[in-house]
Amino acid sequence: MPKLLSKSQIERFREEGFVSPVPVLSKSEASALRARLERFERETGGPLKGDLRHKSHLLFTWLAELVRHPRILDAVEDLYGPDLLCWSSNFFIKERESPAFVSWHQDSTYWGLDRPDVVSAWVAFTPADESNGAMRVVPGSHKLDQIAHRDTFAKHNLLTRGQEIAVDVDERQAATIALEPGEMSLHHVRLVHGSPPNLSRDRRIGFAIRYVPTSVRQIEGGDSATLVRGEDRFGHFEPEPAPEADLEPAMLELHRRIAERSARILYRGTGVASFNDPRGVGLR
Ligand code: NI
Repeated sequence: MPKLLSKSQIERFREEGFVSPVPVLSKSEASALRARLERFERETGGPLKGDLRHKSHLLFTWLAELVRHPRILDAVEDLYGPDLLCWSSNFFIKERESPAFVSWHQDSTYWGLDRPDVVSAWVAFTPADESNGAMRVVPGSHKLDQIAHRDTFAKHNLLTRGQEIAVDVDERQAATIALEPGEMSLHHVRLVHGSPPNLSRDRRIGFAIRYVPTSVRQIEGGDSATLVRGEDRFGHFEPEPAPEADLEPAMLELHRRIAERSARILYRGTGVASFNDPRGVGLR
């Protein structure tokens, strides 16, 4: 018996490459997460930037809890079994009335993982809809193999390399993933997706959590991940600890080294060295 998803949702993930919306948090829990992010931003004088948007669950206890949230993990277990790693996480923040966008892409292109058994849980901290740049997906496109991508490093593209699919996407086929605060979508690592700018009067904030079964490998060198459920009988990734308080010095140092290594994998072949490099557009 599935733990959270219905049989038809599991079938939809297999056939269309995504399931949405899946309720995870109450609206007040989601707004409390937004408030914690924004308190940190007020204290540090601006929007969360650079590598702080990458694997933020190693820095903040409230995100460490979110990547281990039983409802999220129940849904992921329904798709990929009981032994699960959180391989990565990323904030996707689009400021109000801003040109930031995400080009059409497959997540599998630069992640270096040995097979496409990877699912992203995209958790909405604010509403996401057509007015504020919600994600759009091409249903069924996850059944395509890896498609060639070209790096654009385009200004305002939120992706690491401004990577985009090197063939035209038929936008008439695309569906918008509308979410209320506290809901998530689940999408397959090969699903073609992207998102337009946020033209609304408020920020749009989503936190994308990338999960893999413990049997997946990184083929581009050393890598680490957080065991969030079950047992890791493979040991393909160095285990990551959980923070006991926000921004502990030891976790900041560990996170800095992990982010550097992630950037080497994600930017390989481009000459860009880190998420903080101004030439690397991504994740800002
Ligand atoms: Ni993506």
